[in-house]
Amino acid sequence: MGSRAASSRAAILIIWWWCLIQYPKMALGSKTKHFKWEVEYMYWSPDCVEHVVMGINGQFPGPTIRAQAGDTVHVELTNKLPTEGVVIHWHGIRQHGTPWADGTASISQCVINPGETFLYRFKVDKAGTYFYHGHYGMQRSAGLYGSLVVDVAEGEKEPFHYEGEFNLLLSDWWHQSVHEQQLGLSSKPFRWPGEPQSLLMNGRGQYNCSLAAQFSNSPSTQCKFKGTEQCAPEILSVQPNKTYRLRLASTTALASLNLAIGNHKMVVVEADGNYVQPFAVEDMDIYSGESYSVLLTTDQDPSLNYWVSISVRGRKPQTPQGLTMLHYQHHPKTSLIPTSPPPVAPLWNNYTHSKLFTNKILAFMGTPQPPITTHRRIALLNTQNYIDGYTKWAINNLSLVLPATPYLGSIKYGLKNAFGQKKPPENFPIYYDVMKPATNQNSSYGNGVYMLGFNTTVDVILQNANALAANTSEIHPWHLHGHDFWVLGYGEGRFSDQKENNLNLRNPPLRNTAVIFPFGWTALRFVADNPGVWAFHCHIEPHLHMGMGVVFAEGVHLVGKVPDEALTCGLTGKMFMSDNNKP
Ligand code: C2O
Ligand code: CU
Repeated sequence: MGSRAASSRAAILIIWWWCLIQYPKMALGSKTKHFKWEVEYMYWSPDCVEHVVMGINGQFPGPTIRAQAGDTVHVELTNKLPTEGVVIHWHGIRQHGTPWADGTASISQCVINPGETFLYRFKVDKAGTYFYHGHYGMQRSAGLYGSLVVDVAEGEKEPFHYEGEFNLLLSDWWHQSVHEQQLGLSSKPFRWPGEPQSLLMNGRGQYNCSLAAQFSNSPSTQCKFKGTEQCAPEILSVQPNKTYRLRLASTTALASLNLAIGNHKMVVVEADGNYVQPFAVEDMDIYSGESYSVLLTTDQDPSLNYWVSISVRGRKPQTPQGLTMLHYQHHPKTSLIPTSPPPVAPLWNNYTHSKLFTNKILAFMGTPQPPITTHRRIALLNTQNYIDGYTKWAINNLSLVLPATPYLGSIKYGLKNAFGQKKPPENFPIYYDVMKPATNQNSSYGNGVYMLGFNTTVDVILQNANALAANTSEIHPWHLHGHDFWVLGYGEGRFSDQKENNLNLRNPPLRNTAVIFPFGWTALRFVADNPGVWAFHCHIEPHLHMGMGVVFAEGVHLVGKVPDEALTCGLTGKMFMSDNNKP
């Protein structure tokens, strides 16, 4: 046989092989979306007062990622912060097959050092409303966040109809720097950063120049936006008699929110990237880490404008409402301010109202149902404690302190000294009274891992309790990385096995964040089917900083080769970008 024939046969083989690899991608029309980002500090006026924010490519909030289900997202992230590391977490994206791209410092990767570049490459496999944010120290509080929207795949349809769409990323904002907040939280005596100065929608709010000033009792101060457009509200401009989809996500550091639109009802259709049984509401609660889609029909008097408001829930509000406007387009632009006052939020401690809303969220028909039994039940008691006089949060009496070496690599390669090898407790003492302050308020630090059997079903009972002070118990929205879980139910007081019969196994919603109400419990179920190491924590940034989280790991032996730049700390990522993480 001539060498020419052999080489042409080789060429055909290569082409055939290439087509084989490319075909599924081409067939589904999935693409790769490339982004080049630089994270930096910049001067900005999120609420009309200039401060330092963490921005991306000169923008705050960071650029919106928009992709289609099945697409691969590439974000080449360069750290331009002068002296601190950075990582970005893709909140709600499960990272199947790419656990090193989850963007959690000390868990999935080392921080990206100043001047280094890290490539986040992951697939967005499910349509929905998501966001991204810093996951190192309190960088989310510093403003490192943005939206991530995944549309349905080509040829697929949403199970509801709408004619236009808006995206609102909700956050809260402090005038005190994050460094000062962080120091206060880790000081003796403890210094709490207090309530936020402003609530923001898409990074825009108005401190002390409330748009609604004319309706408040404070002397009327007109908003001038002080020569900057950065804090001007983003107005929702609509046409009469149309249906709009409003994508809502909360990346607040602390605040639980209630959102309402004057005179308009909303129909909730999506929660955390999963469809829900549609239901109509006049106002809705959104906790940090949650996202929703609601449908809004513009069926009100088109000669008027209406307020869109967000207000603080669950904590005595010391922050003015965040506001923007729903503007019916043919209405002359000159008088944008609505004639009626902004919606009045339910009383901050009206938990009955919150529970009513939360209990309405049920899975859309066709949503996968949970396995009917579980392999393991982990009960997690949430308490506020002291360690050497420092104020902390602890889970089953252990307050999380992340190790220096990321878990993903240390578990995969058996580095025994990298973190605590003692198994964290599965339960808490039977005699513990969740309705009272603990008799012994001291706890200790820990960083052990809950090792979950691969593909097993795990139940988590999140048990709230009294905090340090008597008669106080707070809201905690818990977020799980790498998975969606089914929310089987909520209840009052201490969970007991008798309450098991009341759990919803028929149509529980699939979510990635679930709240525990004061003095209550929340029951979750998930399948540990995603090889990797996953954070599970309270999404309130200062609470996580004070140790309110645990770490799960499953099937780590099945994880492919971890890119070097996620494994070891201090390589210049770009130069050493390993083969399996190359674009
Ligand atoms: Cu949006 Cu670990 O968090
Ligand atoms: Cu919390």
